[in-house]
Amino acid sequence: MPTETVYGLAADAGSAEAVAAIFAAKGRPRFNPLIAHVADLDAAQRVARLDARALTLAEAFWPGPLTLVAPARAEGGVCDLARAGLDTVAVRAPAHPVAQALLRAIERPLAAPSANRSGRPSPTTLGAAQDELGAAVAAALDGGPCRVGLESTVVSLLDGPPRLLRPGAITRAEIEALVGPLAEAGQDAKRSPGRLLRHYAPAAPLRLDAKEPRPGEAFLAFGPQPIDARFDAAAQVIHLSPTGDLGEAAANLFSALRAADAGRPTAIAVAPIPGEGLGEAIRDRLARAAGLVG
Ligand code: TXA
Ligand code: MG
Repeated sequence: MPTETVYGLAADAGSAEAVAAIFAAKGRPRFNPLIAHVADLDAAQRVARLDARALTLAEAFWPGPLTLVAPARAEGGVCDLARAGLDTVAVRAPAHPVAQALLRAIERPLAAPSANRSGRPSPTTLGAAQDELGAAVAAALDGGPCRVGLESTVVSLLDGPPRLLRPGAITRAEIEALVGPLAEAGQDAKRSPGRLLRHYAPAAPLRLDAKEPRPGEAFLAFGPQPIDARFDAAAQVIHLSPTGDLGEAAANLFSALRAADAGRPTAIAVAPIPGEGLGEAIRDRLARAAGLVG
């Protein structure tokens, strides 16, 4: 199913059999918990116990690219397998009209990881999702290219301060303005094993903060960057955002990585991306793709 962030591989969150089919299709380690997608805040409250901070964030950003981790309700309709046995659950209300229509028709939570094989970049078009999972899926809904292009921000609201488990489409500053400073993932990170080393990796190695490409490399450019004329004109230059707009760069990131990879370069060189706003999530995904963080 399309969402505003990336395409998801969705199944009835209450059916362990259906959820097991997701893990099989993705080749994903079974201990990785999935996000339960719901239509709205009412539906989310049937799945999770949301505290005052979670309600504030949900009211501000739902439907939209924010995932909240909170204590799971016993009869919440998200099976143990989808939660990887945890007593917490990740829940989000996606904004995409096709996802909304699907959730309202089904009237139950849908477990949906990104529709890529495990360890690969998330698909932001139906074609990319079909390249990843093709024959393994029963049906595919075309919602066009994903508007945001980066996965949702994951914030945990358990005991203690709110924690940023995964930077994403909603920025740190937007969240901190409402619930105060975000603690680092810390302990909860172990419970968010989706943040694996090389989680978003293309086949080619990445070279980050590159001023210009070397021969044989593909180059992801950012901003109005003049490419040195000495650089082999035959090499592949892909513009994340010619105007230096972080939102546009986020939306293009995964398709640009796929396009660069398809040319089988010696490496993918990436121009410096500033770390503020959406840049935090973009730099996080690039560092993971480069194998620099785990
Ligand atoms: O934008 C998105 O979030 C997309 C679209 C399809 O909605 N979905 C997505 O799902 O990125 P996935 O499975 O690729 O990433 C879910 C993240 C993982 O890092 C996972 O470990 C974390 O959420 N997560 C899920 N349940 C959790 C829990 N109970 N505690 C901590 N982390 C959890
Ligand atoms: Mg994923």
